[in-house]
Parts: sequence; C-alpha cells; structure tokens
Amino acid sequence: MNGNEQREKITVLLFKFGLPVFCAFLVMLWSSTLLWAACPQPRNTKNAPEEYYKKLNPLEPTMENILQGKSIFEEKAKPLACKFCHGSKGDGNGIMAVGLTPAPRDFTCARTIDGVPDGQLFWIIMKGALGKGMPSYEKNLDDTQAWQVILYVRKLAKTRIAKIRAYPDQVQ
Ligand code: HEC
Repeated sequence: MNGNEQREKITVLLFKFGLPVFCAFLVMLWSSTLLWAACPQPRNTKNAPEEYYKKLNPLEPTMENILQGKSIFEEKAKPLACKFCHGSKGDGNGIMAVGLTPAPRDFTCARTIDGVPDGQLFWIIMKGALGKGMPSYEKNLDDTQAWQVILYVRKLAKTRIAKIRAYPDQVQ
C-alpha cells in the first residue's frame, strides 16, 4: 500500500465512522438543550399524600420571608444548597444538574410550577424524591424554613406576590 492509498483509506474510515459519531453527538447536544429549555417541563413526580397535598403555606410572602428563603436556597440548606442542582437563577441548570434524569425542576417556568400546590412542594422538600436525585431536607430544615424557601421558589417564576398564595385547586 503506498502513502496515497493509505491516506484515502483513512479518509474513508473517518467518514464512515467519524461522521455518524459526530452526528449522534450533535443530536445529543440538541436534545439535551431542548430538555433544559423545556417549559412547561415534563413532570412525573409522585403526588404527596393527601394530608400534605392540601397544606397551605402559613407564612405571608413578605420580603423578609422571601429573602430568608433565598439564603436557604443559595447557601443554608444542608447537606446541599438547592442552587447546586436547581441553579442560582432557579432554572434547573445548577452545576450538579448534569446527568440527572429527570432534570431538577426549573422554577423559572411558571407554566410548570404555578400549578403545583404548596403542600406538594413542602412534601418533596421534606421527604425528597426517592431515587430521583432530589434529597430529603427533613432533618436539616424546620417547617418555617421549608415554607420560606417555597415562597422564594415561587418568586423565581416571577409570580406576583398577590398570586403566591392562591392556586386553582386550593381555592375553596
Ligand atoms: C442533588 C440535586 C438536588 C438538590 C441539591 C435539590 N434538588 Fe430539588 N430536585 C432535584 C431533582 C432531580 C428533581 C426532580 C424530581 C422529579 O422530577 O421527580 C427535583 C425536584 C424538586 C421539586 C419539584 C417537586 C414537584 O413535585 O414538582 C422541588 C419543589 C424541589 N426540587 C425543591 C428543592 C429545594 C427547595 C432544594 C433545596 C432545599 C432542592 N430542591 C435541592 C434535585 C435536587
């Protein structure tokens, strides 16, 4: 085999295998960005048991409560602050979100989060979503702190303060 033939063979091989691999990579990149950007986000989280599901946030959405929630979200929550998965902006794109399936909830998407009742958020935060990467905070956050972080989570969707406490299936 002379040099030219060898070069030709390598070029053919590159096209035969390199091209499909490259295309597959592009498709993966494209679909993962689509998933991140999805709003409303696909949501298959289990519903909280009735006694939790019906709970309403007892706290007023005051600036003080929302700011307490923000500091819990960004640093105080142990073992891991929420921002590491849900992102500092709450868009679900935290540094630890990579590879998590399902992806952490994107709180900036009002169309996903506005329909989820307070009691559901409370339950997930306290108990975690078993086998899905969402830790349980029961041992490290008291009820007040959990409700504060919920007020902040709702603010991330730019939900108006007046609406923060009224959800369609909870208005009796
Ligand atoms: C290690 C990564 C990780 C951390 C840290 C984390 N979460 Fe999550 N969270 C997830 C994942 C993954 C999901 C998606 C679970 C699902 O779809 O069932 C989720 C889902 C949620 C949901 C959605 C529940 C629902 O029913 O839709 C809420 C609310 C939530 N997290 C709040 C928080 C709060 C508040 C904190 C901090 C106190 C936090 N998370 C910390 C990974 C994380």
